[in-house]
Amino acid sequence: MADFFKAEQISENVFFVGARDWNVRNFHGYTTGRGTTYNAFLIIDEHVTLIDTVKAPFVDEMMSRIASVIDPQKIDYIISNHSEPDHSGALAEVIKRVNPSKVVASSMGAKTLKAYYDIDTEVVKTGDSISLGKSVLSFVDTKMLHWPDSMVCYLDSDKILFSQDAFGMHLAGSKLWADMYDKSILDYEARKYFINIINLQAAKVLDLLKSLPSLNLDIEIIAPDHGPLWREDLAFILNLYKEVAEQKPVKKALVAYATMWHATEKLANSLADGIRSAGIDVTVADLASNDRSAIMTEVGRSGLIAFGTPTMNNQMYPAVADALTYIKGLKPQNKIGFAFGAYGWSGEGAKNIAAELTAMGIEQPVDLLQVKYMPNAEELEKIYNCGVMLGTLLAERCNNNEGEK
Ligand code: FEO
Repeated sequence: MADFFKAEQISENVFFVGARDWNVRNFHGYTTGRGTTYNAFLIIDEHVTLIDTVKAPFVDEMMSRIASVIDPQKIDYIISNHSEPDHSGALAEVIKRVNPSKVVASSMGAKTLKAYYDIDTEVVKTGDSISLGKSVLSFVDTKMLHWPDSMVCYLDSDKILFSQDAFGMHLAGSKLWADMYDKSILDYEARKYFINIINLQAAKVLDLLKSLPSLNLDIEIIAPDHGPLWREDLAFILNLYKEVAEQKPVKKALVAYATMWHATEKLANSLADGIRSAGIDVTVADLASNDRSAIMTEVGRSGLIAFGTPTMNNQMYPAVADALTYIKGLKPQNKIGFAFGAYGWSGEGAKNIAAELTAMGIEQPVDLLQVKYMPNAEELEKIYNCGVMLGTLLAERCNNNEGEK
């Protein structure tokens, strides 16, 4: 039986023809508690154009949405703004079904699509444009946002910026428009997306935001490849990107730990209490209950990050190593760090954490603290006082930073 899905019109000439992945909960290690969408867009003009496709299993949903508007055989151009398989997985099958006259990608996109699917493309770069008939689609390279191939394109007739991963979030919902969602959900999911997907290239985001006005694009809609589309209050998402990308110190702390027999957990809780006493909001997270993308989200939202571990087999605990490896790859900036833990005899665990934080360029103004077996009252007071020192230092930095604005 054929699938039955309808396209959703987003402007005079453009339709949403993507797919909702309601139940995905693990997106290559990123926990997607609200699912996600793979947005694709159909432009109706003399040259009917498809912007991006969907993850491979959703090709029939997309084709069904397209068929609700137009005979899919009429698709003439396909634009691949981003070749990661959540947007290109269906491309080879779509090409087989509709036989477009050209597929357009950036130079790196062309290489990726050739390697993945043996697809030939026409290459565009910043400043290039393609006439679709009445409207013109122009291209801007956004290399490394999120992959080397990434680019965005702008449709002059409908004033839409098709932004691929940028300005998106993992959120599957009934509504198409961001202004139909609670702002706190948008804020959380957009931050989580940025911090886990784009943070490594935060400096490039700031460059792009700075260069946007010089491109003279009159943007009324931002249409990303994941989550809701932006048509009102574009400043909300643009300002959020600027704020997150700047990574200024904030009065918030994360105390994350693994524990075997609750010794490190006791240290974590006393440390957190000390930090709180200095007026800093704290999140305490056991790595047995919080996945790496949730931890990274808190890292991005925190000015102080403390990690605790038992020593197991002469090393830090594997869950701590997992989280730190992931965090290191995303290069968080402007954080204060702290390492702590409990051990029985060799005591490498917290030292391993301190070394990893140092490798990330994260300053540790208070020496690491380790206890043998189980912390006593004196040791708990000692780590509480470490928390007070760290919290006070963070508060001072945040206040100084406010003063410099
Ligand atoms: Fe949504 Fe980088 O792919």
